[in-house]
Amino acid sequence: MYPAFKHTHALLAVISILLFQYRYWAFAVKVRTPGKLFKITPHIIDTLLLVTGITVAYIVGFTLGNSPWLTTKIVALFFYVGFGVLAMRGRGQMRWIGYILATLTFAYIVAVAVTKNPTFFL
Ligand code: HEM
Repeated sequence: MYPAFKHTHALLAVISILLFQYRYWAFAVKVRTPGKLFKITPHIIDTLLLVTGITVAYIVGFTLGNSPWLTTKIVALFFYVGFGVLAMRGRGQMRWIGYILATLTFAYIVAVAVTKNPTFFL
């Protein structure tokens, strides 16, 4: 079960960032209102991303106590969501600032996931 959940989790991560990029360029930049599909799907994908993440952590026995990288990832996830909201709903310049920060935060989360080290760049 572990490889299946881990690969599903990583695949959901890819879908999540692709949807975010599409939504930003198609709706935030052009100031159009997304249809139902693009309003609802990202929430479903992100919820599944969270659920599969928790499942993999449970299977392997990673806890917040024994895996600082996991704690970092979850904190960074809140930043990703917050910057994402700024990118989609912020005013003027705040949109692209939110977009850049959300994209960078996502890259950081992936790097932390792969290295299992929150300070991999040091
Ligand atoms: C934007 C959010 C997230 C992204 C982009 C993301 C990305 C990834 C990626 C790419 C991997 C695979 C790493 C590898 O191949 O070694 C991974 C693994 C993992 N993620 Fe996430 N993740 C996210 C959120 C979460 C959350 C919320 C949790 C837990 C609550 C979580 C828990 C885990 C665990 C336990 C692993 C497996 C580590 C292993 O056994 O190698 N992730 N994540």
